Amino acid sequence: MHEAHITIDPAFRVAPVRRRTFGTFVEHLGRCVYTGIYEPGHPCADEDGFRTDVLDLTRELGVSTVRYPGGNFVSGYRWEDGIGPRERRPRRLDLAWHSTETNEVGVDEFVRWCRKAGVEPMMAVNLGTRGVEAALDLLEYCNIDSGTHLSDLRVANGAKEPHGIRMWCLGNEMDGPWQIGHKSAREYGRLAAQTARAMRMLDPGLELVACGSSGSSMPTFGSWEATVLEETYDVVDYISCHAYYEEKDGDLGSFLACATDMEHFISSVVATADHVGARLRSRKKIHISFDEWNVWYLSRFQAAEPPRDWPVAPPLLEDHYHLADAVAFGGLLITLLRHSDRVAAACLAQLVNVIAPIMTEPGGRAWRQTTFHPFAQASSLAAGEVLHLEPVSPLYETAAYGQVPVLHAVATHTGDQTVVFAVNRSTDRPLALDVDARALGPVRVLEATTLTGPDVYARNTADDPGRVAPRANPDVEQDPLRVVLPPVSWNVIRLGR
Ligand code: AHR
Repeated sequence: MHEAHITIDPAFRVAPVRRRTFGTFVEHLGRCVYTGIYEPGHPCADEDGFRTDVLDLTRELGVSTVRYPGGNFVSGYRWEDGIGPRERRPRRLDLAWHSTETNEVGVDEFVRWCRKAGVEPMMAVNLGTRGVEAALDLLEYCNIDSGTHLSDLRVANGAKEPHGIRMWCLGNEMDGPWQIGHKSAREYGRLAAQTARAMRMLDPGLELVACGSSGSSMPTFGSWEATVLEETYDVVDYISCHAYYEEKDGDLGSFLACATDMEHFISSVVATADHVGARLRSRKKIHISFDEWNVWYLSRFQAAEPPRDWPVAPPLLEDHYHLADAVAFGGLLITLLRHSDRVAAACLAQLVNVIAPIMTEPGGRAWRQTTFHPFAQASSLAAGEVLHLEPVSPLYETAAYGQVPVLHAVATHTGDQTVVFAVNRSTDRPLALDVDARALGPVRVLEATTLTGPDVYARNTADDPGRVAPRANPDVEQDPLRVVLPPVSWNVIRLGR
């Protein structure tokens, strides 16, 4: 048995828990939109064609924000294709995912879906094939009450109230050579600044996200952020980060420690942004929008044959997550929370079917993947202030990151409840966690759950949807507080009086 301990003190505040940490992402990609959120002929479809089983699971997941419509898709997208009478909407070739886009769902349907799901829409504009004018047109269509050509068009299309979208991404992954309209940092930075300035003239209350690197292993990482922020510092609020992780070559130990890379990624981007701010003599702080993160078996996707024809909503990126994926995923969530002082928004990529916590069968069932559970638990229980924890933990050696702690943890605290989220990364040993909570007064463990199991590669399926789910952790001692975390586990410990 490993031994570790944490000290919880409400004085060690990092930042408030930000609801936008629990954002997700809906892209026109594979079956995320079609047969994901939208499937008119489905037995659960509502009057708008939205799957109510998916709406219910989205609410249960505790999603705050949903980014839309891409992703790589947005860099070739004409938003006007997705408005007005459906029978007049054009079918287009989507070059990003080699699919046919029917445009049955566009911005008006998406916002209607968001209202039903109780989530905040977050929109991306196309800075790949388009630019300032198309971004302004979309903004006018969405956010101006009425009385102008495009706002009146929205009203005529059935959306009387403005969509009121506050958060906007200025393009997507423009550093990536795969991106349609890929640009150098200087080219993108200038275009993003021009677009941001013009959008703010139309609606000064917007929150704008400039594209950072599409991964910390990109050759331009660091210099990309610096150049883009030199151009955009005064007119944007966030720089984006994207990161995906997978188990490679059977190296489970490294995979379970992938949050180490995310920690380093965040610190590097914060340092770069602050360096630019210092050079510009600015007191403003740029925040991070970590608007794509997840476990994604990208190498399998890259090894697969791309579609030969141009299918409509083909099954793409449909990763079936196992227990170890959920534990690595939980570690990423812990890292996002730990950095809540600078990570002010995040989007799990994506919501349904495409590298997603929710899976559906066309015409059939919907179920929770293993990764659904850490997200839903953190979203419902993280509240109040994020507290800094400095776990005292044994280390283990990884090929990818050197020595890393076996325990990865964070706590959140309100007046009457403290919640610890913790991962035991050990593949073979339980971890006895001693909790020094003296600063909280007389508290006890109200509830402890663990997501674990004998088979780290166990998955949930439509036939066995509850195989991997959080269960009560029986290994709890109240005085002194001690909880035993099983090997390869995601844990939630609720403390109170
Ligand atoms: O989420 C899948 C894809 O990953 C997105 O379209 C793109 O932005 C990223 O590379």
